[in-house]
Formats: sequence, structure tokens, C-alpha cells
Amino acid sequence: MKKIILLLLFLFPVCSIANTVNKPRIVIAPKCLIDKANVSHRVLVVDNDLLLVQVSDDQIEQIAAVKSQKPRCGGFMDVTDEWAQIGKRSGAKAFLSQYSSVSVPAPAAQSYSIKYPAQVNQLLAQTNPQRLWDNLTKFTSFPDRSATSDTGVQAAEWLRDQVKTMANGRTDVEVYLVPTAGYKQPSVVAKLGTSSEPGIVVGGHMDTLTNGKPGADDDGTGSMTVLEVAQTIISSGMQFKKPIYFIWYAAEERGLVGSKNVVNKFKKDHIPVANVIHLDMTGYPDKKYPTAIWLMTDYVNKPLMTYLETLTNAYVKKPIKYSACGYACSDHATWTQNGYASAIPFESAMENYNPYIHSAQDTMDKIVLNHMTDYTKLALAFVVELAGPLQ
Ligand code: BES
Ligand code: ZN
Repeated sequence: MKKIILLLLFLFPVCSIANTVNKPRIVIAPKCLIDKANVSHRVLVVDNDLLLVQVSDDQIEQIAAVKSQKPRCGGFMDVTDEWAQIGKRSGAKAFLSQYSSVSVPAPAAQSYSIKYPAQVNQLLAQTNPQRLWDNLTKFTSFPDRSATSDTGVQAAEWLRDQVKTMANGRTDVEVYLVPTAGYKQPSVVAKLGTSSEPGIVVGGHMDTLTNGKPGADDDGTGSMTVLEVAQTIISSGMQFKKPIYFIWYAAEERGLVGSKNVVNKFKKDHIPVANVIHLDMTGYPDKKYPTAIWLMTDYVNKPLMTYLETLTNAYVKKPIKYSACGYACSDHATWTQNGYASAIPFESAMENYNPYIHSAQDTMDKIVLNHMTDYTKLALAFVVELAGPLQ
């Protein structure tokens, strides 16, 4: 008996530690964000204002929770896997400098022009703003779409099922889930077309933060734009030279984790990608320039960004303005950092974006359908022009 008690006493602390110890995560974040989160952390290296730190899972939650408190000081990137693969070998300093400098691998130059006005205009006439609004209403009705919650998983399944329904048995439409390391919510990838040419990617992020965050604008708007583009193109029956990938990323709010897993899968499977457009927040017009389409200038491919201006002039016919995130603010940056040509239109100037995001007030009543519809037209024109209709 004594022996058993001794054994239990010996085992107990070990078990309880095993239950409470969190997996370490490696994060790149501005010093100001780490200070604000006030979490215990281990600094691996510093490069100007940028830190490479080790924290635990719980602390990721805490950092995510304070990231939109004013004054904002940029987001954070979860680089746990990259660190395990290359960071330790190359050394912390070299590893961090890859992310702090803007010197990302440049994709091969491509030339962009307007080639298919008849087909684009035909499809533009088939977009359905009411359907877009109804889908956003449904998508926003999940209590939250957090990468850590069951409703976040249900949102992913709902997206997958929407694509299955619109494909209606077509054999050239495929939809699959891509697991997200460390999170229950998968990303959703839908592919249209069977050619092995480099594809065109149109994406948004499905996830929100935890607990009652409806995420109407961030990023319900972008996600439902992707769905509307998919619906319009798939129901038209139009076929293309290049495959089109409609992607809803998981766990963007946790440091661009879902897009990292998706891009890694594309690389591992040798799936070529020519161009990427990302939609993250398109429903809250800039107070000063309410009709303008804004283009982000950083972490993007400049010629592709300029092409978005050309497409806007040709098809959306709204003024163009330029702004910058100042950091890798969404999943377009994951593609850019991996050497792909990627661009992002945005709802407003950086200083005038929807102030209700990351809160329970990010609701439908703040969303302007016309504004969102303009970004849907832009995304549709982008996809059709670059994928190249066959008829
Ligand atoms: N939609 C935002 C990005 C955003 C916010 C762009 C405001 C422009 C203006 C995105 O979902 C987000 O919250 N990003 C994080 C960074 C990310 C790397 C975790 C952020 O901005 O804090
Ligand atoms: Zn966000």
C-alpha cells in the first residue's frame, strides 16, 4: 500500500505537468505587441522593433486578443514550423531578418492586359448582390468562426457544402479540406478545371477570433466575395485555360497559420500557381472617399497591383487609391513571402478601416453591399482575365 501511495505521489506531479504544459510556439511580432499582451515569453532575437519570441499556445490567444487595442502596433506571425525546419539551422538572426526585410523572392515577370471583355462582362451581369448579402447573413450567423471552436469547423464544412451544391456533380469541380497545424479548423480549397497549367487563386479567410465574434467584415465580406465569384463562374459553365482555386483560409487571425499550411501543401504537391488575389475586409467604405477601391502596396507583387488598377478602370469604373498595411496583415503576404505574385484590394485607407473588427460589433449593419459588390466584380474580372476563358 505504502508503495502504491509513493508511486502515485511520484507520478502525480508528472501527469499534471504533462496536462498543463502548452506546446511552445515561435512567433514574430513587433515589440510593442508583445509588451501590450504582457505575456511571459523568451526572446530568441531582436531586429529593430521586431522580435522572434517563444511563447505557449495560451499566450497566442492573449496576443491575438490585444492586437486590435489602440494604438495598434501590427500583427504577429506564427512561424513555429518554419523555425523547426530552417530557423534553428540558419540561426535566429538570419531567420528573423528574412521576415523583417521586404526583400522577398521576386516571381518571374508577367505581362498583364485586358483580353476578354466580352466574357468578363457576360459574367459580371450574372453576379447576384442579393445572394451575396444572404450568404453573408448566413456566414455571420455562426456565433464565431474561430479556428479553435466547433462553430469554426462548422463554418468550414458549410463552405465545402456550398461548393458541393453548386458543382452539382460536375467532374471538373473538386473541393477538399487542408488541415491546419495545431487548430481544429481546416482551410477549404475548391478547384475548377483539370488543366495542369499554373492556377489562379482567389481567397479570403474564414476565421474570426474567439467568443462571439461574428466577423461580418473581417472576413465575412472577403469570404463571401470568394463564394459569389465561385458561384457565378461555376453556374455559368464557362471553362478556362488555367485552373481556378477558390480558397477559404483557416486561422489567419492566429498568425496566418492556415494560409501557411495551404501554401506548403501546394508546394509539396508541386501545384503551380500563377497569380493570387486576396480579399480581406471589403464592406466598410472609407469616410473620405466612399466609392474608392483601395489597393495595398506592401507585401504584394507591384505589376499585379497595377493590373488591379487596370481591371478596376475597365470593369468596376470606380476611383483607385493606394494605402499600405505596414506589416504582413493577411494571407496575401504568405503567398508573397513564398515567391508568388499576390495582391490585395482593401475597403479603405489603412487609417480609416472598420473600427469594429475583432469585436462583437463587427456586424452586418455596418456593411455596405454596394462597396462589397464592387470588390466582387474586381475579383471576378481578375479571375476570368487571368484564367483565360476557352470559349
Ligand atoms: N483583416 C485583418 C487585417 C487588417 C486589419 C488589414 C486592418 C488592414 C487593416 C486581419 O484579419 C488581421 O486581423 N490581421 C492581424 C495580423 C495577422 C498576421 C494575425 C492584425 O492586423 O492584427
Ligand atoms: Zn482580423
